[in-house]
Amino acid sequence: MLNCDTLIRNASVVDGSGMAPELMDAALRDGRIVEIGPSLPFHAADVIHADGLVLAPGFIDVHTHDDTTVIHQPTMMPKLSQGVTTVIVGNCGICVAPVRVDGEPPDPMNLLGDAGVFRYPTFAEYVTAIRDARPSVNVAALVGHTALRNNHMDRLDRTATASEIDAMRGQLQEALDGGALGLSSGLAYLSAHAASTEEILELARPLASAGGVYVTHMRNEAEDILDAMREAFEIGRLSRVPVIVSHLKCAGLANWGRSGEVLNSLERAQTMQQAGCDCYPYAAGSSTLDLRQVDERVEVTITWSMPHPNVAGQTLAQIAATWRVSQLDAARQLQPAGAIYHSIAEGDMRRILRHPATMIGSDGLPNDPHPHPRLWGTFPRVLGRYSREEGLLSLPEAIHKMTGMPAQRFGLTGRGLIRKEFAADLVLFDPETIIDTATFSNPISAAHGITSVWVNGVLSYTSQGATGARAGRFLPRGKTSWIQRLKP
Ligand code: ZN
Ligand code: CU
Repeated sequence: MLNCDTLIRNASVVDGSGMAPELMDAALRDGRIVEIGPSLPFHAADVIHADGLVLAPGFIDVHTHDDTTVIHQPTMMPKLSQGVTTVIVGNCGICVAPVRVDGEPPDPMNLLGDAGVFRYPTFAEYVTAIRDARPSVNVAALVGHTALRNNHMDRLDRTATASEIDAMRGQLQEALDGGALGLSSGLAYLSAHAASTEEILELARPLASAGGVYVTHMRNEAEDILDAMREAFEIGRLSRVPVIVSHLKCAGLANWGRSGEVLNSLERAQTMQQAGCDCYPYAAGSSTLDLRQVDERVEVTITWSMPHPNVAGQTLAQIAATWRVSQLDAARQLQPAGAIYHSIAEGDMRRILRHPATMIGSDGLPNDPHPHPRLWGTFPRVLGRYSREEGLLSLPEAIHKMTGMPAQRFGLTGRGLIRKEFAADLVLFDPETIIDTATFSNPISAAHGITSVWVNGVLSYTSQGATGARAGRFLPRGKTSWIQRLKP
């Protein structure tokens, strides 16, 4: 008999590759999967009988804003409780490293916290802070274009000069050398909207030789979405880097029903270059409060407001009625603020969610006092509601979008699959009961059905809650590999 630390017996193993479940045992030792197969001849201190349960690779949340949360609330309950074992931070053009801010951070960098949390002038200092904080989940990081702009520009309502781009590029290169996954942008926000395509192209030059990716919250997600997609793919093509479109959606009433066109554009790009996207399983978005998105026909919920903190959780319509002003005027008075916009059609969201190019990313906003429920619910909602209850996608497909696919696309080597020698990031759950419980009215609520979560072989969460062990690591960029799976 061989020895191991943990032996999981008789689990229905969904390995993350998209393949059908198989009944197997998994032996874990020193943070790795040492053997996987039926009836393993192993001896372990910890033996788990997993009959009836699914064992999957730990979920990878490809789209997060957990940049400061992994340091300040290292237990990471919103994510750990969903079976997430790795978060990718630095999305939407914003990050905390390499960053220096004078005064208040510009919108939307304020989503990550106030001025006091921006304490990592170099990427290396951020990596050290993660190591010291020992979060319960692994962390991999992108570098944000907006953050680099803010480091080097006196104002953000113009495109950067050649020397400013040089300075930004130097910081990007240094971060890539330190293990960053690539560059993210948030061109829809006013802090980056004035940046020309050339600015991004010039900045993106170090990505190709480093093997990094370009991840973008596009310039437009409403009427002009196809132009914005063209720009994103052009940047990828000319820079010779993979493109990942963040939280792909058709936003705004005038744009409903266009997911077919949008996915066609993505599929066309895929015939020429590496292209993909992520998506959260809700028909509502959330970010800072944007006056351009205030539309009396769309329900908007305020998630926070600096001048009026007591209105968090109320709708903009309620606030405007109480104040006897228009919604736009109310929105002006609430700023800076955060909002949930119920501006996505469920049918569009479903079509994007099940598309083979789509990964799952929560886009959760951990600093919001009344957050969008995606922060606590995304992964169990895909598995329980959209896979089991609605049959929108099979369980192996859903898990592939959360594990094997993101690991390959972002270069998280040795993760995302259940394979011998891979890291023992694992989640055990009940496929019959897994479900999200977070709602728009009660958004801070852990999912049901997650039995156990191991991070680097360490049991970190059970149905009783967090175990207190925190075994997450900083994950430097590995080699990306893009196998563009055809439609099932
Ligand atoms: Zn975004
Ligand atoms: Cu985001």
